[in-house]
Amino acid sequence: MIIDKEKIGRVLAIGGENIIRTYDKDKVIKTPFGLRYLLNRKKYVNSIKESHLELKEYFKDYLLPTEIVFSSDGRSYSMIQSRLKNRKLTPKLIRKNDFVKKQFSNMISCNNKMIRDIGVSWDFYGTLGFVFGPFWVNNVVVAKNRLVMIDLGIIHLEKKNQNWLAYLIGRLAFWRQNRYLRALMSKV
Ligand SMILES: Nc1ncnc2c1ncn2[C@@H]1O[C@H](COP(=O)(O)OP(=O)(O)OP(=O)(O)O)[C@@H](O)[C@H]1O
Ligand SMILES: [Mg+2]
Repeated sequence: MIIDKEKIGRVLAIGGENIIRTYDKDKVIKTPFGLRYLLNRKKYVNSIKESHLELKEYFKDYLLPTEIVFSSDGRSYSMIQSRLKNRKLTPKLIRKNDFVKKQFSNMISCNNKMIRDIGVSWDFYGTLGFVFGPFWVNNVVVAKNRLVMIDLGIIHLEKKNQNWLAYLIGRLAFWRQNRYLRALMSKV
């Protein structure tokens, strides 16, 4: 697929890591600009394909189909997704709707399995969720009663070849995510 610049429309949202704009009639295009990307662009670009495959393997249909299009010099990429008419996942909705609750618990189990198997966690909260607290799981939305993961962000829990800053931010986000998920689940 080649990105047609003519089809890029207005800015829908600015997240912590991506600018989200409309694309074509019914899609969105996401372009990264976040800290992890800016710290080590080449590595981030190279790792996005792998993250995508891992998330598809562990979360299957929860993950919103995402097409990753790399720039010709390989230094950047865009993500294309269908544009959802979604609402926020709230404690009230989880409490009221058993199907939503089941899906969310299942998502947490998928994540625990991924952590055990490969030492990688999905980022439930993203930067915005991280800032706005435990009751906004920014990277999951509800579309027609189904929970949908709209974001490919992951956290590598082992240091390996990450630089220290990226590693420590990841560990902090993971610690915070666990606290937040506990706070959220205690309300439902
Ligand atoms: N496929 C989509 N359809 C409609 N709106 C979307 C879609 N993807 C993202 N958005 C909107 O854009 C916001 C930010 O999206 P996303 O989480 O992908 O960005 P981000 O840069 O990763 O932000 P963060 O770091 O906070 O997670 C979402 O909260 C949502 O409102
Ligand atoms: Mg996000």
